[in-house]
Amino acid sequence: MTTTTSRTAIVTGAARGIGTGVSQRLAADGFAVAVLDLDEAACKPVVAEIEAAGGRALAVGADVADEAAVQAAVDRVATELGEPTVLVNNAGIIRDNLLFKMTATDWDAVMNVHLRGSFLMTRAVQGYMTKAQWGRIVNLSSTSALGNRGQVNYSAAKAGIQGFTKTLAIELGKYGVTANAIAPGFIETEMTMATAERMGVSFDDFKAFVIKEIPVGRGGRPADIAHAVSFFVGEDAGFVSGQVLYVAGGPKA
Ligand code: NAI
Repeated sequence: MTTTTSRTAIVTGAARGIGTGVSQRLAADGFAVAVLDLDEAACKPVVAEIEAAGGRALAVGADVADEAAVQAAVDRVATELGEPTVLVNNAGIIRDNLLFKMTATDWDAVMNVHLRGSFLMTRAVQGYMTKAQWGRIVNLSSTSALGNRGQVNYSAAKAGIQGFTKTLAIELGKYGVTANAIAPGFIETEMTMATAERMGVSFDDFKAFVIKEIPVGRGGRPADIAHAVSFFVGEDAGFVSGQVLYVAGGPKA
């Protein structure tokens, strides 16, 4: 049986937040990890931490919504780190507003990063997976896919990610490739800090308000999501595909 030590993973949006947590976890699991984000310099501290812990990593700068940049980034990973057979589509942005105030620019920006970005990255990497007859794709959805006030763009994109994931599972299954989605609830990152700021409340107040509704009684951390990613990309998870796992401290459907 092949071990994970020789495998290469790409994690998008990995310079901070959930993507950093996922990168660190996959490196600890034995993957060589391409830490990809808009700005290569911002990825370097994450790479340095992984290397200090004995892992292998590469900082890669690319906008996941830019077709040429995505192809160049994936080519570079294949050459400098190893042919990628694990992809975590995590890069994301929010541009929240109520429907009547939302601009078409904010609609497009969110669709471009989440949907076009996941599509371009997956299309660029799938050839390595089918060639290896093994691959793991994990896409970040959200509990917002179920509907969330002020997020008509983001919730549509995150629901779209679920359909995208299920179709990948159907098309790529025969090549030994699985595709699954993780739908986090509230995770403490700069994204949720920005939400609190926009609502005009302190992050502590925002957290207290949100946590009241979370059955396990705490906010999520990047490591909570990284743990679920680690399961999906594992050797033994080959019969788990096309699933959406809500990681939210309680039931969601
Ligand atoms: P974050 O805002 O802290 O980090 C997102 C990263 O994505 C940033 O480093 C950013 O530079 C990068 N990024 C944005 N646009 C990009 C692009 N076009 N190309 C490459 N990189 C790009 O966000 P966080 O909280 O770590 O979220 C990660 C993922 O998890 C996102 O997809 C988000 O929608 C999802 N999520 C987060 C939740 C939360 O509570 N924090 C809840 C549910 C889902």
